Amino acid sequence: MDGPPAARSCRGPARFLAPLPRADYGSRAFVAVRDTAGTGLRAKWTRDRVKTVLEMGAYVRKLHEYDGSGIRITYDAVRCIHAAECVKGLPTVFDTTRRPWIDADGASPDEVAAVIRKCPTGALHFERLDGGEPETPATTNEITVGADGPLFVSGDLELMDAERRVFTRETRAALCRCGASNDKPWCDGSHSEAGFRAAADLGDSRPNPRQESSPGPLRIRLRPNGPLLLEGPFAIGPAEPEGTVEGIGCALCRCGASDNKPWCDGSHNRVGFQADDPSAS
Ligand code: SF4
Ligand code: FES
Repeated sequence: MDGPPAARSCRGPARFLAPLPRADYGSRAFVAVRDTAGTGLRAKWTRDRVKTVLEMGAYVRKLHEYDGSGIRITYDAVRCIHAAECVKGLPTVFDTTRRPWIDADGASPDEVAAVIRKCPTGALHFERLDGGEPETPATTNEITVGADGPLFVSGDLELMDAERRVFTRETRAALCRCGASNDKPWCDGSHSEAGFRAAADLGDSRPNPRQESSPGPLRIRLRPNGPLLLEGPFAIGPAEPEGTVEGIGCALCRCGASDNKPWCDGSHNRVGFQADDPSAS
Protein backbone atom coordinates (compact mmCIF):
# COMPACT_ATOMS: atom_id res chain seq x y z
CA MET A 1 0.00 0.00 0.00
CA ASP A 2 1.27 3.39 -0.98
CA GLY A 3 1.48 6.27 1.45
CA PRO A 4 3.69 8.95 2.89
CA PRO A 5 7.03 7.71 4.19
CA ALA A 6 8.23 8.39 7.67
CA ALA A 7 10.44 11.45 7.87
CA ARG A 8 14.10 10.58 7.50
CA SER A 9 17.20 12.59 7.97
CA CYS A 10 19.77 13.42 5.35
CA ARG A 11 23.09 15.23 5.31
CA GLY A 12 21.47 18.58 5.92
CA PRO A 13 20.11 19.74 9.23
CA ALA A 14 16.70 20.51 7.76
CA ARG A 15 13.74 18.28 8.49
CA PHE A 16 10.33 18.43 6.98
CA LEU A 17 7.38 19.36 9.10
CA ALA A 18 5.32 17.14 6.86
CA PRO A 19 6.62 14.11 4.98
CA LEU A 20 6.81 14.14 1.21
CA PRO A 21 4.10 12.08 -0.44
CA ARG A 22 4.82 8.68 -1.90
CA ALA A 23 1.93 9.22 -4.25
CA ASP A 24 0.13 12.36 -5.22
CA TYR A 25 -3.45 11.36 -5.61
CA GLY A 26 -5.03 13.60 -8.15
CA SER A 27 -1.89 14.25 -10.16
CA ARG A 28 -0.90 12.38 -13.23
CA ALA A 29 1.66 9.69 -12.67
CA PHE A 30 3.73 7.61 -14.98
CA VAL A 31 6.18 4.81 -14.62
CA ALA A 32 9.36 4.81 -16.58
CA VAL A 33 12.53 2.85 -17.02
CA ARG A 34 15.71 3.49 -18.89
CA ASP A 35 16.55 0.93 -21.53
CA THR A 36 19.62 -1.23 -21.23
CA ALA A 37 21.42 0.56 -24.05
CA GLY A 38 20.93 3.83 -22.25
CA THR A 39 19.24 5.37 -25.24
CA GLY A 40 16.51 7.05 -23.32
CA LEU A 41 13.57 6.86 -21.01
CA ARG A 42 10.66 4.65 -21.93
CA ALA A 43 7.55 5.88 -20.27
CA LYS A 44 3.95 4.88 -20.06
CA TRP A 45 1.26 7.30 -18.98
CA THR A 46 -1.39 6.15 -16.65
CA ARG A 47 -4.60 7.55 -15.24
CA ASP A 48 -4.32 5.05 -12.42
CA ARG A 49 -3.84 7.16 -9.30
CA VAL A 50 -2.14 4.41 -7.36
CA LYS A 51 0.46 2.58 -9.40
CA THR A 52 1.04 1.02 -12.73
CA VAL A 53 4.31 -0.72 -13.29
CA LEU A 54 6.02 -0.86 -16.63
CA GLU A 55 8.68 -3.49 -16.28
CA MET A 56 11.97 -3.77 -18.04
CA GLY A 57 13.89 -6.70 -16.70
CA ALA A 58 14.02 -6.50 -12.96
CA TYR A 59 14.58 -2.79 -12.64
CA VAL A 60 11.61 -0.50 -12.42
CA ARG A 61 11.22 3.14 -11.55
CA LYS A 62 8.05 5.02 -10.83
CA LEU A 63 8.10 8.72 -11.48
CA HIS A 64 5.53 11.38 -10.80
CA GLU A 65 5.30 14.15 -13.32
CA TYR A 66 4.09 17.71 -12.90
CA ASP A 67 3.62 19.98 -15.90
CA GLY A 68 3.83 23.74 -15.80
CA SER A 69 3.54 26.09 -18.73
CA GLY A 70 7.31 26.26 -19.17
CA ILE A 71 8.79 23.28 -17.33
CA ARG A 72 8.03 19.66 -16.52
CA ILE A 73 9.15 18.31 -13.15
CA THR A 74 9.61 14.62 -12.40
CA TYR A 75 9.80 13.21 -8.88
CA ASP A 76 10.98 9.76 -7.79
CA ALA A 77 9.76 9.17 -4.25
CA VAL A 78 12.06 6.19 -3.74
CA ARG A 79 15.12 8.36 -4.31
CA CYS A 80 14.04 11.22 -2.03
CA ILE A 81 15.72 11.20 1.36
CA HIS A 82 14.36 14.52 2.49
CA ALA A 83 17.35 16.80 2.31
CA ALA A 84 14.77 19.58 1.83
CA GLU A 85 16.75 21.61 -0.67
CA CYS A 86 13.53 21.90 -2.67
CA VAL A 87 11.11 23.08 0.03
CA LYS A 88 13.67 25.46 1.48
CA GLY A 89 14.70 26.78 -1.89
CA LEU A 90 11.31 27.30 -3.52
CA PRO A 91 8.37 26.83 -1.16
CA THR A 92 5.91 28.25 -3.71
CA VAL A 93 6.66 25.24 -5.92
CA PHE A 94 7.48 22.52 -3.37
CA ASP A 95 5.04 22.42 -0.48
CA THR A 96 4.54 19.14 1.39
CA THR A 97 1.35 20.38 3.04
CA ARG A 98 -0.35 20.69 -0.35
CA ARG A 99 -1.66 18.01 -2.72
CA PRO A 100 -0.26 17.75 -5.25
CA TRP A 101 2.82 18.94 -3.43
CA ILE A 102 4.52 20.29 -6.56
CA ASP A 103 3.18 23.29 -8.52
CA ALA A 104 5.44 23.67 -11.54
CA ASP A 105 3.98 27.11 -12.22
CA GLY A 106 4.78 28.37 -8.72
CA ALA A 107 7.94 30.14 -9.93
CA SER A 108 9.71 30.88 -13.18
CA PRO A 109 11.14 27.89 -15.07
CA ASP A 110 14.66 29.23 -14.49
CA GLU A 111 14.08 29.37 -10.73
CA VAL A 112 12.61 25.88 -10.70
CA ALA A 113 15.52 24.50 -12.72
CA ALA A 114 18.07 26.12 -10.42
CA VAL A 115 16.57 24.52 -7.31
CA ILE A 116 16.14 21.11 -8.90
CA ARG A 117 19.82 21.08 -9.84
CA LYS A 118 20.53 21.23 -6.09
CA CYS A 119 18.53 18.09 -5.30
CA PRO A 120 21.41 15.89 -4.14
CA THR A 121 19.73 12.55 -4.70
CA GLY A 122 18.38 12.90 -8.24
CA ALA A 123 14.84 12.45 -6.96
CA LEU A 124 13.92 15.60 -8.89
CA HIS A 125 14.59 16.28 -12.56
CA PHE A 126 13.18 18.70 -15.07
CA GLU A 127 12.50 19.07 -18.75
CA ARG A 128 12.16 22.53 -20.21
CA LEU A 129 9.01 23.05 -22.26
CA ASP A 130 9.85 26.66 -23.10
CA GLY A 131 13.11 26.10 -24.95
CA GLY A 132 15.14 27.06 -21.88
CA GLU A 133 18.46 25.53 -20.97
CA PRO A 134 18.02 21.77 -20.53
CA GLU A 135 19.33 19.71 -17.64
CA THR A 136 22.89 18.64 -18.35
CA PRO A 137 25.47 16.85 -16.18
CA ALA A 138 28.03 18.89 -14.28
CA THR A 139 31.34 19.13 -16.13
CA THR A 140 33.16 17.29 -13.36
CA ASN A 141 32.23 14.09 -11.56
CA GLU A 142 32.19 14.56 -7.82
CA ILE A 143 31.64 12.24 -4.88
CA THR A 144 30.87 13.76 -1.52
CA VAL A 145 31.29 11.40 1.41
CA GLY A 146 28.43 12.08 3.77
CA ALA A 147 29.10 11.93 7.52
CA ASP A 148 27.14 8.94 8.91
CA GLY A 149 25.30 8.86 5.60
CA PRO A 150 25.44 8.09 1.89
CA LEU A 151 27.79 8.91 -0.94
CA PHE A 152 26.45 11.92 -2.86
CA VAL A 153 27.53 11.60 -6.48
CA SER A 154 27.09 14.16 -9.26
CA GLY A 155 28.24 14.51 -12.84
CA ASP A 156 27.91 12.32 -15.91
CA LEU A 157 27.01 9.07 -14.19
CA GLU A 158 26.46 5.61 -15.61
CA LEU A 159 25.27 2.99 -13.15
CA MET A 160 26.07 -0.50 -14.36
CA ASP A 161 25.13 -3.94 -13.19
CA ALA A 162 27.67 -6.68 -12.60
CA GLU A 163 27.72 -7.48 -16.33
CA ARG A 164 28.63 -3.88 -17.17
CA ARG A 165 25.17 -3.14 -18.57
CA VAL A 166 24.03 0.42 -17.92
CA PHE A 167 20.74 0.41 -16.05
CA THR A 168 20.59 4.12 -15.24
CA ARG A 169 22.18 7.30 -16.53
CA GLU A 170 22.09 10.05 -13.96
CA THR A 171 23.35 13.51 -13.07
CA ARG A 172 22.90 13.21 -9.29
CA ALA A 173 22.49 10.31 -6.88
CA ALA A 174 22.76 9.38 -3.21
CA LEU A 175 24.25 5.89 -2.96
CA CYS A 176 23.93 3.66 0.09
CA ARG A 177 27.16 2.99 1.97
CA CYS A 178 25.74 1.65 5.22
CA GLY A 179 24.44 -1.59 3.68
CA ALA A 180 20.96 -1.15 5.19
CA SER A 181 19.00 0.48 2.35
CA ASN A 182 16.03 -1.42 1.03
CA ASP A 183 16.47 0.27 -2.35
CA LYS A 184 20.13 -0.39 -3.10
CA PRO A 185 22.09 1.07 -4.70
CA TRP A 186 20.09 4.17 -3.71
CA CYS A 187 20.13 5.54 -0.18
CA ASP A 188 16.66 5.35 1.37
CA GLY A 189 17.56 6.99 4.68
CA SER A 190 18.02 3.67 6.53
CA HIS A 191 21.44 4.76 7.83
CA SER A 192 19.68 6.75 10.57
CA GLU A 193 17.68 3.81 11.86
CA ALA A 194 20.69 1.51 11.50
CA GLY A 195 22.82 3.85 13.61
CA PHE A 196 25.47 3.98 10.89
CA ARG A 197 28.57 5.87 11.96
CA ALA A 198 31.27 6.88 9.50
CA ALA A 199 33.41 9.95 9.17
CA ALA A 200 33.22 12.09 6.07
CA ASP A 201 36.96 11.97 5.49
CA LEU A 202 38.98 9.68 3.25
CA GLY A 203 41.16 8.02 5.86
CA ASP A 204 44.68 7.10 4.85
CA SER A 205 44.04 5.50 1.46
CA ARG A 206 43.64 7.22 -1.89
CA PRO A 207 42.00 6.26 -5.22
CA ASN A 208 44.01 5.35 -8.29
CA PRO A 209 45.43 8.75 -9.25
CA ARG A 210 44.05 10.62 -12.20
CA GLN A 211 46.52 10.65 -15.07
CA GLU A 212 44.76 12.59 -17.78
CA SER A 213 42.60 15.68 -17.81
CA SER A 214 40.06 14.51 -20.39
CA PRO A 215 36.50 14.60 -19.07
CA GLY A 216 34.23 11.62 -19.41
CA PRO A 217 31.49 9.68 -17.68
CA LEU A 218 31.92 8.12 -14.28
CA ARG A 219 30.95 4.47 -14.48
CA ILE A 220 29.72 2.98 -11.23
CA ARG A 221 29.54 -0.80 -11.34
CA LEU A 222 27.75 -2.82 -8.69
CA ARG A 223 29.94 -5.73 -7.75
CA PRO A 224 27.65 -8.56 -6.59
CA ASN A 225 27.45 -8.48 -2.80
CA GLY A 226 30.51 -6.25 -2.85
CA PRO A 227 31.67 -2.68 -3.36
CA LEU A 228 30.90 0.06 -5.86
CA LEU A 229 33.59 -0.12 -8.53
CA LEU A 230 34.34 3.29 -10.01
CA GLU A 231 35.91 3.90 -13.40
CA GLY A 232 36.42 7.32 -14.93
CA PRO A 233 37.56 10.74 -13.78
CA PHE A 234 36.26 11.93 -10.43
CA ALA A 235 37.02 13.97 -7.36
CA ILE A 236 36.15 12.54 -3.95
CA GLY A 237 36.17 14.06 -0.52
CA PRO A 238 34.16 15.56 2.31
CA ALA A 239 31.69 18.40 1.72
CA GLU A 240 34.45 20.95 2.21
CA PRO A 241 36.80 21.33 -0.79
CA GLU A 242 39.82 20.77 1.44
CA GLY A 243 40.68 17.10 1.54
CA THR A 244 39.27 16.34 -1.90
CA VAL A 245 41.42 14.20 -4.19
CA GLU A 246 41.12 13.23 -7.85
CA GLY A 247 41.15 9.71 -9.19
CA ILE A 248 40.19 7.45 -12.07
CA GLY A 249 39.35 4.27 -10.23
CA CYS A 250 38.55 2.86 -6.80
CA ALA A 251 36.32 0.48 -4.88
CA LEU A 252 33.98 2.11 -2.40
CA CYS A 253 32.47 0.24 0.52
CA ARG A 254 28.70 -0.17 0.43
CA CYS A 255 28.31 -2.87 3.07
CA GLY A 256 29.06 -0.53 5.96
CA ALA A 257 31.60 -2.90 7.51
CA SER A 258 34.91 -1.69 6.10
CA ASP A 259 37.48 -0.58 8.64
CA ASN A 260 38.88 1.77 6.02
CA LYS A 261 35.77 3.69 4.90
CA PRO A 262 34.95 4.98 2.39
CA TRP A 263 37.14 2.38 0.70
CA CYS A 264 36.34 -1.33 0.46
CA ASP A 265 38.72 -3.49 2.49
CA GLY A 266 37.11 -6.85 1.72
CA SER A 267 34.98 -6.92 4.85
CA HIS A 268 31.84 -7.57 2.76
CA ASN A 269 32.95 -11.23 2.57
CA ARG A 270 33.44 -11.45 6.31
CA VAL A 271 29.99 -10.03 7.10
CA GLY A 272 28.17 -11.91 4.31
CA PHE A 273 26.85 -8.73 2.68
CA GLN A 274 23.83 -9.32 0.42
CA ALA A 275 23.18 -6.47 -1.99
CA ASP A 276 20.15 -7.75 -3.93
CA ASP A 277 21.01 -5.37 -6.76
CA PRO A 278 18.86 -4.32 -9.70
CA SER A 279 19.82 -5.78 -13.02
CA ALA A 280 19.59 -4.32 -16.51
CA SER A 281 18.74 -7.69 -18.03
S1 SF4 B 1 15.81 18.20 -2.68
FE1 SF4 B 1 15.49 16.14 -3.57
S2 SF4 B 1 16.07 14.67 -1.92
FE2 SF4 B 1 15.78 16.70 -0.98
S3 SF4 B 1 13.65 16.71 -0.26
FE3 SF4 B 1 13.65 17.66 -2.30
S4 SF4 B 1 13.23 15.93 -3.70
FE4 SF4 B 1 13.85 15.02 -1.74
S1 FES C 1 31.78 -3.39 0.31
FE1 FES C 1 32.17 -2.93 2.42
S2 FES C 1 34.21 -3.76 2.71
FE2 FES C 1 33.80 -4.21 0.58
